[in-house]
Amino acid sequence: MVNFRTLDDLDVAGRRVLVRGDLNLPMKDGRVADTTRIDRHAPTLVELADRGARVIVLSHFGRPKGRVVPALSLRPVVAPLSAALGGRPVAFAEDCVGPAAERIAAGLGQGHIALLENLRFHPGEEANDPDFAGKLASLGEIYVDDAFSCAHRAHASVEAIARLLPAAAGRLMQAEIEALERALETPERPVAALVGGAKVSTKLGLLGALVEKVELLVIGGAMANTFLHALGTEVGRSLCERGMAEKARGIVARAEASGCTLMLPGDAVVASELKAGAASRTVPLTAVPADAMILDIGPKTAAEVAARLEDCRTLVWNGPLGAFETSPFDAGTTAVAKAVARRTKAGRLLSVAGGGDTVAALVHAGVADDFSYVSTAGGAFLAWLEGRELPGVAALRAAR
Ligand code: 3PG
Repeated sequence: MVNFRTLDDLDVAGRRVLVRGDLNLPMKDGRVADTTRIDRHAPTLVELADRGARVIVLSHFGRPKGRVVPALSLRPVVAPLSAALGGRPVAFAEDCVGPAAERIAAGLGQGHIALLENLRFHPGEEANDPDFAGKLASLGEIYVDDAFSCAHRAHASVEAIARLLPAAAGRLMQAEIEALERALETPERPVAALVGGAKVSTKLGLLGALVEKVELLVIGGAMANTFLHALGTEVGRSLCERGMAEKARGIVARAEASGCTLMLPGDAVVASELKAGAASRTVPLTAVPADAMILDIGPKTAAEVAARLEDCRTLVWNGPLGAFETSPFDAGTTAVAKAVARRTKAGRLLSVAGGGDTVAALVHAGVADDFSYVSTAGGAFLAWLEGRELPGVAALRAAR
């Protein structure tokens, strides 16, 4: 249910449209290493330009903490952004407010696109400062938020600005919200969640929220070790937050109380070190050697997860199920990812995945394009799954 305005509701011809993007991109040696986020914004920017808008792109990059940090300039993004827009030129302003930004905004022709320097060079951005938001707003006439991945930040370019200009969601923001609503707010049941990754401590809120919302919660990755340990299983030298045992038992109890089946691995791939090609073997969870580390779910567990997903109609996935960056400990995550992709392609499952590691694992498994929706958001995706209100989404819903 779309209860915010989208590009369909805007008349943008000739107007200056400020678009909040997320160009917080992975860089290597001063160059953009992965253009996924740029590519995902292209439909919004191209549509606005084609409809005759004067498009001004706003973004942060890194965490310069309100100071000008030349290494965190957005200038290196200009060329890849232009390439993603089919070679359209992209003008660049050395600052996101003040004379440099005003000059670029004033001189922008219809259908043309400009990028402003890193918003976080100014302390007002993270402070959600109304004056700073006012300076940004004065550069345009309409505000479009296309950065779902920043929606968990109550920052000036995300929150305060939406109160100052007519505001709407861009196509990426719209797609992210629609996909997540279909997966968690009005899902076809049964719903399954796969949660992996290293630490229970970073995902306690998530696990607590999910047991109330889904019928099946599969826990993998190193965080499963914490649960196994808490329930009395020997996990050897595996990564394990022993101090979280009580909390883990609490999640198990809440799952039982709310009728959610919580599934932990029944077998595991173990090795004495996390190294590519390390000698490994598969053992039942009841027989993890004291000197070994659990580095992946075992094949029986992967097959059982796949079998249980046969009965599910909706799946949300955050976090890999093993140390997938290092072969052969990628096998479990890859097997489950392929099973999800098959069910999705057969029209039997709505599958939504998100988070940086998760996306990398799906790309590694070669199935990222076969899921119903893969979110580019990390923290915002988690916050949404936890059921927290995202300031950026709330601002769009409240916008005039
Ligand atoms: C992200 O990369 O998840 C977003 O750009 C938000 O970045 P932040 O965590 O620095 O606010």
